[in-house]
Amino acid sequence: MTGVMDKQASFQPETEKSAQFYNEDCEDQLKLGRFMIKKLNIPKGAHVLDIGCGPGTLTVEIADDVGPTGNVIGIDLGEERIKIALQTHKDPTLNTYRPNVSFIVGDAHNLSHFPDNHFDYVVANTVIHYLDLRKALKEAFRVLKPGGTFAASSVSGDHTCPPFAIKKEVQSRGYYRAHIAPTMDLFDFPTQSGLEALFLDSGFQCASFDLIHSTLVRKDPRAMINYVDASCSGTYIRSFPEAIQATAWADFEAEFEKFRTERGIELEYVGMTAYATKA
Ligand SMILES: C[S@@+](CC[C@H](N)C(=O)[O-])C[C@H]1O[C@@H](n2cnc3c(N)ncnc32)[C@H](O)[C@@H]1O
Repeated sequence: MTGVMDKQASFQPETEKSAQFYNEDCEDQLKLGRFMIKKLNIPKGAHVLDIGCGPGTLTVEIADDVGPTGNVIGIDLGEERIKIALQTHKDPTLNTYRPNVSFIVGDAHNLSHFPDNHFDYVVANTVIHYLDLRKALKEAFRVLKPGGTFAASSVSGDHTCPPFAIKKEVQSRGYYRAHIAPTMDLFDFPTQSGLEALFLDSGFQCASFDLIHSTLVRKDPRAMINYVDASCSGTYIRSFPEAIQATAWADFEAEFEKFRTERGIELEYVGMTAYATKA
């Protein structure tokens, strides 16, 4: 699992449609984030940075926790996602952005907009699999105040996650090898031991973890693929060359069909939340 953490970000700019789709169907990912934020019990007045904030739903919930004396900044590499965050989260009474929230386009690997020792918390909900974590943790550590906490949620790399096991198997088939690399847009999600080692290497202390057993249900394979693709910013299947799109959809749908229950397509996976403190 070690090579995983050294990789460069595999994020690609997405379309407005995919960003919108994610905004409309991200409750499953928000569940992990809400678990993490509840566990942090962020006090009023805290200063928080939400890296990879996406359309900002969790960012605004954190802003409610910190209240008017606190402040939350959401930062995301995806311009389309920040556009949605800015459009969605206006204060209904002021018809302007909430005074204690701001959203900016930016890269978690380079937080040079922010001074050292600035935030009480840096949080990252379902983002870290995109990142070169050595670089991103170095930056998170720098901008945190002494005593501040970094918290992240992710799919657990210690357990199989069916959509990504399917992707790995399908695109290793001979037909695909003629068109794409077998590893194209495959994530290696962090393991607990890999993440713990990286925390310690980056100067953090007191790493702790939770595992969250979760189930994804969608009415049919197509709906499940659409959800997974949007949650991966269009890099699950839509990033394949046009020439193989139809075959890929048929092959992926056949694999997802194997997970049919009376509720629809039902997939179990394990989420992980991780917490580390800057002494
Ligand atoms: C699965 S979404 C999660 C969004 C949000 N945290 C939520 O809870 O809804 C992952 C997000 O990470 C962002 N992202 C990927 N690489 C990034 C980077 N290097 N810096 C900042 N954001 C990044 C993507 O644009 C995307 O919005």
